[in-house]
Amino acid sequence: MLRIIAPLTLFALAAGPALAETPMAQPNADVERIAKARGAIKGLAEGLKAKLVTAMKDGGPVAALDVCNIEAPKITAARSAESGMSVARTALKVRNQNNAADDFERRVMEQFIEKIKSGADAMKLEHAETVEMDGKKVFRYMKPIMTAGSPCLACHGSELKPPVAEKIKALYPKDEATGFSAGDMRGAFTVKQAIE
Ligand code: HEC
Repeated sequence: MLRIIAPLTLFALAAGPALAETPMAQPNADVERIAKARGAIKGLAEGLKAKLVTAMKDGGPVAALDVCNIEAPKITAARSAESGMSVARTALKVRNQNNAADDFERRVMEQFIEKIKSGADAMKLEHAETVEMDGKKVFRYMKPIMTAGSPCLACHGSELKPPVAEKIKALYPKDEATGFSAGDMRGAFTVKQAIE
């Protein structure tokens, strides 16, 4: 059974003071929205982490896959309802097609990867922007999700144990989310909120 030894630093989304992307002069509403988005993401990260850690301890990665499969979408929906913002996870390579990125998310994640390559601290990166979608103003916020050695690689690495690989194939026939290494950006948290 796989045991979790390293703390899930990835989930330690300390609300750092540095706003990597947004300039200092922000309208108050945006500052509040950014704070809310950070809080909602923290809640989602903690909710997912709690389930994952327990499931891995109880039954290892094969059993934990069922938990991710059923619980991740539930936790995501609950956090969105609770925060009044759409809060989710996305990636350039997804396991669940429902998490596929739109053009905005793709562009921001590509920028995150470039910045990380040039030495930026991934834990401090974030991106906030108000965009127009279908003629409506929408606040958008994103933050990278990094791959930790343990436990992420058990299900997203290059050398999955055969029963884990088989189960992933059965649950997600179109899975693209393997082949990652520790320290790679796995994906991002993504928040959307329509602005009246
Ligand atoms: C027990 C296996 C397992 C482990 C361990 C695991 N994941 Fe996943 N991961 C999954 C499954 C299953 C999904 C698809 C969930 C769904 O259906 O929404 C997923 C989805 C994701 C997504 C959403 C995008 C997508 O591909 O659909 C991200 C981001 C992600 N995982 C990151 C991580 C990170 C970072 C870690 C380590 C902290 C981790 N995962 C550990 C199984 C796992």
